[in-house]
Amino acid sequence: MAIACIEDYRGAARRRLPRFLFDYIDGGSYAETTMRANVADLERLSLRQRVMRDVSGAQLETRMLGRSVSMPVALAPIGLAGLYARRGEVQAARVAEAAGVPFILSASACCGLEEVAPAVQAPLLFQLYMIKDRAFMAALLDRARAAGVETLVMTVDLIIHSPRYRDMRSTLTGRQTVLDRLRRMIEIARHPGWAWDVGVRGRPHILGNFAPAMPGGAGLAQFTDWVSRNFDPSITWDDLAWVRERWKGPLVLKGILDPDDARLACEAGASAIVVSNHGGRQLDGAPSTISALRPVVEAVEGKLEVLMDGGIRSGVDVLRALASGASGVLLGRAWAFALAAGGGASVSHMLELLRHELAVAMALTGYSRIADIGPEALLRTERAAS
Ligand code: GLV
Repeated sequence: MAIACIEDYRGAARRRLPRFLFDYIDGGSYAETTMRANVADLERLSLRQRVMRDVSGAQLETRMLGRSVSMPVALAPIGLAGLYARRGEVQAARVAEAAGVPFILSASACCGLEEVAPAVQAPLLFQLYMIKDRAFMAALLDRARAAGVETLVMTVDLIIHSPRYRDMRSTLTGRQTVLDRLRRMIEIARHPGWAWDVGVRGRPHILGNFAPAMPGGAGLAQFTDWVSRNFDPSITWDDLAWVRERWKGPLVLKGILDPDDARLACEAGASAIVVSNHGGRQLDGAPSTISALRPVVEAVEGKLEVLMDGGIRSGVDVLRALASGASGVLLGRAWAFALAAGGGASVSHMLELLRHELAVAMALTGYSRIADIGPEALLRTERAAS
């Protein structure tokens, strides 16, 4: 069957990937309540249908993250994309550039800075967590600068890993018996397309950005071990000042959900924040991002750019986010699913579907320009509620 929408790419990814990888992308923490709320609360948001407003010359171009973009959408940093498709980060970065949208390289990418940066013309955006080993972190910032990165995206909501039941069940995390390994190998054998294209031809399966910190090897097992020792739950806003001293370029904070934290982000000199609950993968019970967005936008009083991620599954959702105060959205699972389903070509197709959906949604709500989309796009009852 042909692919019509992002949800179809989810189905295609499910067929193509070994189950433990699909579950890693698709799953959230604990009972996945927040993850589901991200999607459900967006879907619930009713839009005003407006007619006969001459939307014939509609333009989706705007500015986001300090650059001109063809639509207010960026590819979020997602870990391990090189396991979803062969050298997945390189493919996705190229596609994003051709489509005119920003690509944010994850710290826990398979393809590291030095592999991805030369594949594109425009400067990369790079995501990082606060890491205990500050010498390593300083070296990574230097590497990012050397690779031409201008904008740093600090993820601030992953100071500790939240239990993800699906990963525990699939034994991607937690105990690893011989039987678990055997089950995983059987699962790989059941997906020969993936096994040949990614499992064999997509090597090396290392975490390119972290490899220098892992002299014993930079495979997944070493990485998990390293992460548990090096993610830093002791961080405070003072540690962010440490980053600020070493990173003079634009700094984006991803993982802000509370208006008080948003105000602190302004004081800390962030140039943008991403309203995010990590795709429902961290604090289960946290509000959906669409419901958290408006109070955050009001708290920052226009002092910085506010983006959001979580639950975007269509161009209509992009419009809902813009109407709720975001100046753009990040896609996570949407591009991971497309990449897994068919590599860069599918990411490109997914972005085209989304662009068309956004254009149609704008036409039917009576907008010709992204900058004009505001709370009036929502039904009055929705505006009161948000
Ligand atoms: C990493 O950031 C994850 O959500 O798995």
